Amino acid sequence: MGNRLIQKLFLGMFVICMMGFYCLKTSTLLATHSVSLAPCASKVRNNSQRTLKADVTCSPKVNLMFMKTHKTASSTLMNVLLRFGEKHQLRFALPDGRNDFFYPSSFFRTQVKSYQPGLCYNIVCNHMRFNAPEVEKLLPEDAFFFTILRDPAELFESSFHYYKAYVPQTWRIPGGNQFEEFLVDPNRYYNPQGINAFYLKNLQFFDFGFENNLEADDVRVQESIEYMEKRFQLVLISDHFEESLILLKDALCWQMDDLLFFKLNVRNATSVSPMSPELRTRAREWNGADWRLYQHFNTTFWALVEAYGRSRMEEEVKELRRRNAEMEAICIDGGGAVEAAEITDRHMKPWQPIGKASILGYNLKSDIKRQYEELCRKMLTPEIQYLTDLGVNLWVTRLWGWFKDSVVQFGLS
Ligand SMILES: *[C@@H]1O[C@H](CO)[C@@H](O)[C@H](O)[C@H]1NC(C)=O
Ligand SMILES: *[C@@H]1O[C@H](CO)[C@@H](O)[C@H](O)[C@H]1NC(C)=O
Ligand SMILES: *[C@@H]1O[C@H](CO)[C@@H](O)[C@H](O)[C@H]1NC(C)=O
Repeated sequence: MGNRLIQKLFLGMFVICMMGFYCLKTSTLLATHSVSLAPCASKVRNNSQRTLKADVTCSPKVNLMFMKTHKTASSTLMNVLLRFGEKHQLRFALPDGRNDFFYPSSFFRTQVKSYQPGLCYNIVCNHMRFNAPEVEKLLPEDAFFFTILRDPAELFESSFHYYKAYVPQTWRIPGGNQFEEFLVDPNRYYNPQGINAFYLKNLQFFDFGFENNLEADDVRVQESIEYMEKRFQLVLISDHFEESLILLKDALCWQMDDLLFFKLNVRNATSVSPMSPELRTRAREWNGADWRLYQHFNTTFWALVEAYGRSRMEEEVKELRRRNAEMEAICIDGGGAVEAAEITDRHMKPWQPIGKASILGYNLKSDIKRQYEELCRKMLTPEIQYLTDLGVNLWVTRLWGWFKDSVVQFGLS
């Protein structure tokens, strides 16, 4: 008991120190670059990549801002973007030292690895707390802004389990099912001023840079939604992931080949708390601003599907699933995801939450045909390793990972 408390205190201290360090580092960065405007070319220099079929008249969009939200299948989508960018030799705005842009601090363009005023980028796709004016200064004016939302009930269940160790105020929630206990009377446990409290309420609102403690009927919630409507050309819905990808393909003039994916960063089903309809309603009410946000863009999403054509969409989704299944048979040993302990190649092991290895990963087949080898490997490479392959030195993330897996894991088990 005493031991456990000490571990938690130690963890808390460490988190505070790390956050203090980031704040310090961010403000120094801002002070040293008296940030001037970065004029961006409006076209990519290399136009020789028009390999589309003759009947396609559009050209693929390559200047992309993907606002990567938490716990929304965004890692899977990011893998798609990383492969697309590599294939077309596009320039990524990558973070420095870690895999996000100093989240939960607001995004500033000086957080970009090797940032220089005047440099222009094609793709931004790492976690950040959205800050439109700063993002806009990194990208050409014609950049396509898109993001992905998820039903706040599912999202809350997922983020609660994944992040609760980072949120000290959850540590004192009693009972075997802390998630349910919290939702029965959230105000009893929730302190908006607490460390990392944003993980517990309207996380999507927070990710987009808005105040996450607004009540659902606050006029600012509606204003925020209208702002997003203007700023983002496309808002996807992770609960309909394949349909989302097809809409993305249509909007960006991509090809089916560009959409192939394996679900990354998925939890073992045994660690998902089943939710009764009542609990689901509570979760949506508690995350009322996110629920409004989701409902708004769920409506626009299905209007887009309607405009695209229901049956055409069904056909395309079927085709995408068929192609993914084909790739699965080509790439994945055992035909599916396995627990981390069963992954033989370190390079393929996914990042785990504190205190439990619930995230599944994959083993590559050993006899993959040569022409698929690279594609299979990239499709299965988790985010951290992929970013390392792209040249990001993730020393902060690695240090934290070491601490999390060696020190904290012991304490909590
Ligand atoms: C332009 O892109 C094509 C195909 O992606 C590549 O083969 C070619 O080397 C590139 N040219 C330049 C000048 O980067
Ligand atoms: C999303 O919109 C569709 C189509 O209008 C509707 O059938 C569905 O119930 C909505 N989902 C939620 C969670 O509101
Ligand atoms: C999920 O966890 C259960 C219980 O720990 C285990 O039996 C099962 O094999 C796991 N599933 C996968 C896909 O690894």
